[in-house]
Amino acid sequence: MKILITGGAGFIGSAVVRLAIARGHEVVNVDALTYAACLDNVASVSDSPLYAFEQVDIRNRAGLDTVFATHKPDVVMHLAAESHVDRSIDGPGDFIETNISGTFNMLEAARKYWVEAGKPEGFRFHHISTDEVFGSLPNDRSVMFTEETPYDPRSPYSASKASSDHLVRAWHETYGLPVVLTNCSNNYGPFHFPEKLVPVIILNALAGKDLPIYGDGSNIRDWLYVEDHADALLLVVEKGALGRSYNIGGENERSNLELVKSLCAILDEKRPKSSGSYADQITFVTDRPGHDARYAIDPSRIRTELGWRPSVTIDEGLALTVAWYLSNEHWWRALQNRHGVGERLGVTA
Ligand SMILES: NC(=O)c1ccc[n+]([C@@H]2O[C@H](COP(=O)([O-])OP(=O)(O)OC[C@H]3O[C@@H](n4cnc5c(N)ncnc54)[C@H](O)[C@@H]3O)[C@@H](O)[C@H]2O)c1
Repeated sequence: MKILITGGAGFIGSAVVRLAIARGHEVVNVDALTYAACLDNVASVSDSPLYAFEQVDIRNRAGLDTVFATHKPDVVMHLAAESHVDRSIDGPGDFIETNISGTFNMLEAARKYWVEAGKPEGFRFHHISTDEVFGSLPNDRSVMFTEETPYDPRSPYSASKASSDHLVRAWHETYGLPVVLTNCSNNYGPFHFPEKLVPVIILNALAGKDLPIYGDGSNIRDWLYVEDHADALLLVVEKGALGRSYNIGGENERSNLELVKSLCAILDEKRPKSSGSYADQITFVTDRPGHDARYAIDPSRIRTELGWRPSVTIDEGLALTVAWYLSNEHWWRALQNRHGVGERLGVTA
């Protein structure tokens, strides 16, 4: 199968690129190479005859038409997006342009290609989205997001992703474009850009800096190992029912404070400090405006209909992640001077 993957130089997209090639698929990686991209993420497969790269911005419709005409993909997996909530608070414009207008361009370019190719039956447009479109849950473990949960996005990032989800469904209903959608919980794992919580904590800990926790650290997320997510995405693009959406979660709820303490405990074991624990560096900082209290995914649909399950528990996944950062300093050092990395963003005036 030839897969056009957008955002394949990012965190999740690169995990999908690596796994797809390992499974013998051809991949065309379409990425604008924004501040969040790193081609080293796909260095392990970039010499493969199965891999092609196109530096194209999804805001450039003509560029997308050329990519479709040149590579003639069997399916599309659309992951390119502005992805950092804090940056969406400071500069929502990029999120509107890439996540909404860019997805519109992708849908139109895909529709043109699909129609001109005679509407091949196996074609799929897989839109990768987030559980943040569903809003915020109370701290009651019996309530979780299902695919029927009404949309209630509350940050510029989640609102832009919700808008793109609606566009994708509309292109299916109106034009018959064969789409599938997924909404997943917070990912973590190797190649995570050093502005997100897990790498920030690991790298600040190693540097002897404060470990910043927003608010009181009680916000709960459902953590998913990125390689398990990539596996679920390839399953959905191959086996998902037309027009259907699937929630993907790790069934691993942790408060931010619990998560940070787990990371500190793993670091204490793998790279002990001369005295004390990394947890001594925990510092509580001003909360994110509109910080959603809890996200939790009910993954029953993908589990029962497609038979997917995560392969690691959160403790296993965090240990793998810490080990990866300890052995890949050259990768993260190179990204630490990118614009905004290491700064507190998204606090508004
Ligand atoms: N990280 C998570 O925990 C998470 C959770 C749920 C859903 N998602 C979704 O998964 C997708 C991937 O997330 P990620 O964490 O890997 O993001 P990321 O920020 O690590 O990577 C995004 C990639 O998209 C590219 N990109 C951005 N704007 C572009 C544009 N205009 N044209 C072409 N390429 C562009 C970037 O260069 C980068 O390589 C996103 O759609 C995101 O909304 C992420």
